[in-house]
Amino acid sequence: MKGIILHGGHGTRLRPLTHTGPKQLLPIANKPMSQYALEDLKNVGINDIAIVVGDIYPEKVKEYYGNGKEFGVNITYIYQEKPQGISHAIRLCKEFVGDDKFIVYLGDNVLRKNLTDYTKKFSSSGLDAMILLCEVDNPSKFGVAYIDKEDSLKIKNIIEKPKNPTSNLAVIGVYFLTPKIFDIIDNLKPSSRGELEITDALQLLMDKGNKIAYDIVTGWWKDTGTPDDIIHANRLVLDSIGTEEQFLVEKDASIKDNIIIGNNTEISHDSSIIGPAIIGKNCKIRNAVRLGPYVSIGDNCILENCNIENSILMKDCKVYAQVDLSSSIIAHGSQIDGGHDVITKSHLLLGERTHLKL
Ligand code: DAU
Repeated sequence: MKGIILHGGHGTRLRPLTHTGPKQLLPIANKPMSQYALEDLKNVGINDIAIVVGDIYPEKVKEYYGNGKEFGVNITYIYQEKPQGISHAIRLCKEFVGDDKFIVYLGDNVLRKNLTDYTKKFSSSGLDAMILLCEVDNPSKFGVAYIDKEDSLKIKNIIEKPKNPTSNLAVIGVYFLTPKIFDIIDNLKPSSRGELEITDALQLLMDKGNKIAYDIVTGWWKDTGTPDDIIHANRLVLDSIGTEEQFLVEKDASIKDNIIIGNNTEISHDSSIIGPAIIGKNCKIRNAVRLGPYVSIGDNCILENCNIENSILMKDCKVYAQVDLSSSIIAHGSQIDGGHDVITKSHLLLGERTHLKL
């Protein structure tokens, strides 16, 4: 089997964080979100992975993943000039896929459960496609599947972002496919948003009499379209520290209860950390800092005097302020300075290398 990770798109709802890089490289618990996809694919034995990059800093994706050797896989990069739809991106991979079955993983989806059982089911079946469904409160934001309750294999319809959905089963961004999908995509028409939709391709595949099955995922699944989604995904991943399936520990990090601390990080005696939390390497945390719960701090950060909760600070950030910061995302290399007053900030979003004086 082969794997495809979609790493294109524009990530407009995540600006300013996506002004300087693709959204799929934004870190969740100190790891780019697309790395969770890559590791899920690798863990089911997939070594050949294509990453479809778009026009937002594709070189940053290549710089991070390289040829894949460091991650134990072989990576092929495929360039999508414009985000013309998930099906369009998949069609670009026809040559890469050849005659193999394959899994497409949207690089902004994070899934709690690993893919082992689903992959076994699909690879040993004669199915033409398999999708994963998850019950959600807001189905109109997703592709939605209508299933036949009498027949557990049968999907009746798949509709992209229906206005008045009568099913709450969202189609998640992990698709098990065979090369049959390519001819189907060749016959697709762009949707009202001008894209070749994956949901339309799956519907057409069914309409032509092919066999599609579904599975309902247990555990959580997160599509990280907005800053709040990213902060929520960060909480969900941090909650797994120390559990059997946790996927966080770096080789050189220490782990105590539900707190992970990178090498060479110094924490002063008057500072405190409440887990779950992850702190990268070479950080300096001093002068009565209070961190957590649900905080991810990247490498090389210097924090003084602040209280930070439910937030993500990426690498190389500095906070020299008496600030109570919550539900915020501070991108790489940013600095927050403060005066004598204690200031409370919630839902702050700072793009890369921003200097904020409070
Ligand atoms: O997250 C699950 C949902 O993903 C599904 O329920 C929907 O059926 C599916 O259409 C998709 O909906 P979104 O509107 O959330 O898709 P989005 O435009 O955010 O793109 C999903 C990922 O694919 C994202 O990582 C960007 C990448 N992408 C997207 C497009 C349109 C590409 O690489 N190329 C593209 O042309």
